[in-house]
Amino acid sequence: MINKISVIGAGRVGETTAQMLAIQKFASEIVLIDLDDRYAQGVALDIQQTSEVFKFDTVIKGSSNISTIKDSNIVIITAGLPRKPGMDRSDVLKVNLKIIDGIMDGVIEHANDAFVIMVTNPVDALTYYACKKTNWDRSRIIGQAGVLDSLRMSSFIAMETGLSINDIKTLVLGGHGDTMVPLTRFTSIGGVPITQLLSADVIEGIIQRTRDGGAEIINLKKNSSAYDAPGAAVTVMVESIVHNKKRLMPCISLLQGEYGQNGLAIGVPVVLGENGIERIIELEFNDEENALFNQSVNVTRELTLQVDKRIG
Ligand code: 2OP
Repeated sequence: MINKISVIGAGRVGETTAQMLAIQKFASEIVLIDLDDRYAQGVALDIQQTSEVFKFDTVIKGSSNISTIKDSNIVIITAGLPRKPGMDRSDVLKVNLKIIDGIMDGVIEHANDAFVIMVTNPVDALTYYACKKTNWDRSRIIGQAGVLDSLRMSSFIAMETGLSINDIKTLVLGGHGDTMVPLTRFTSIGGVPITQLLSADVIEGIIQRTRDGGAEIINLKKNSSAYDAPGAAVTVMVESIVHNKKRLMPCISLLQGEYGQNGLAIGVPVVLGENGIERIIELEFNDEENALFNQSVNVTRELTLQVDKRIG
């Protein structure tokens, strides 16, 4: 168990994440920060009152004062505006960059030794921004996207085959958007390659549904984007750090030469442990995978260039 985890943003993703982290008993204290002080307090109190059922002794606090994150071991950033109809990722970037800028000032001042898990979209560009702004070792700044996208792909495969989710392994790399790269060659059930179990057409359908995973939820819910699966994705990342599990999972990391890229944060397979990103695994892509990954790199680089322009 670690001392303290802070979740910035007490919206639906922040609240769900805090609740899941409390249930897992990862920390003795969880702090929720929101612009709306009373709202943050209300969410914290609501979660606190589940402690008897889930048997956690974690103290949950809510506040609008960023200094409450003081000495956190892990800071999870979920604050920001979700994409509204008519906005593209670059519009969202404009709005959320300002928000993340203020938050990162607070993180640098009050939790300068923490690991940061970025969740706010566009998550690739904002992970890059947090790396640039802090100049910390990149191992401490981790973006969440590939874990969620892989959870989605695994669920679709379980729904399609009727086989146990426990045996399904998927790997989704690249940027968190239309150009994400679900890798069929690295997808299996109980060690059996997915191509032996499902037809090419069905696999293609699952890949497309994975790419559209966030949008499908918004279209169904109308007034909200996903928050349960995003909260679960953050929870397994935190678990791997807190319990030093050294799980190999797709996370957004700043690349420094890997995959032939520099100055770009994008989803790649990493090993997550007590030191954050402990290793980046460089896969040998075939031509088709290479083309898909490069396409995702190009799209992500455009947003990254906008970050560079804004910070000069
Ligand atoms: C999702 O994929 C919106 O990024 C969020 O659900």
